[in-house]
Amino acid sequence: MFEKDIERVLISAADIAARVRELGAALTEDYAGRELLLIGLLKGSAVFLTDLGRQVSLPVYYDFMSVSSYGQGAVSSGEVIIKKDLSQTIEGCHVLVVEDIVDTGYTLAHVLELLAQRKPASLKVCALLDKPSCRKITVGLDYIGFSVPDEFLVGYGLDYAQRYRNLPYVGVLKPEVYRGGQ
Ligand code: IMP
Ligand code: MG
Repeated sequence: MFEKDIERVLISAADIAARVRELGAALTEDYAGRELLLIGLLKGSAVFLTDLGRQVSLPVYYDFMSVSSYGQGAVSSGEVIIKKDLSQTIEGCHVLVVEDIVDTGYTLAHVLELLAQRKPASLKVCALLDKPSCRKITVGLDYIGFSVPDEFLVGYGLDYAQRYRNLPYVGVLKPEVYRGGQ
């Protein structure tokens, strides 16, 4: 069982579902009378985005992009590259970028800068998890699911080496798993 790698459950599936309902209700109210384009950053945000979209009682569209950091080293340059771009133009659209977790903030800051150049009608951010103690660059988060401590988290879309995304909760990964390599 791969759940043996989980030290503890940080946020249960029930708590996530309750918070996602609240966020969906807030979006339904805030975007009333408009259509909303949810942009997910692959792959981590896919689970959250599809659950969130179903809690919004408005016309909702989905699109996805995939970005990655240039350096995987301890010291990030903050540069990110686009591996897969959106499938549509966003000019004039009400865009909500949906992210799984904001850590240094570099990924999101870069994506926001890029999307802003494409002239959306509005551009906001909804992050399921916020690790504020790790922030290296200021980035405004309009909707936040949970603030979390500086621990390595997996589940509900979040991975370590592409694993654990399908756990229904957010858990803390045992340090020996990532210290021990494969
Ligand atoms: P940032 O550019 O440092 O804010 O990077 C955010 C990205 O790093 C997220 O979208 C995740 O893919 C990844 N990430 C940051 N913290 C964690 C974590 O605790 N578990 C899994 N992935 C993480
Ligand atoms: Mg991500």
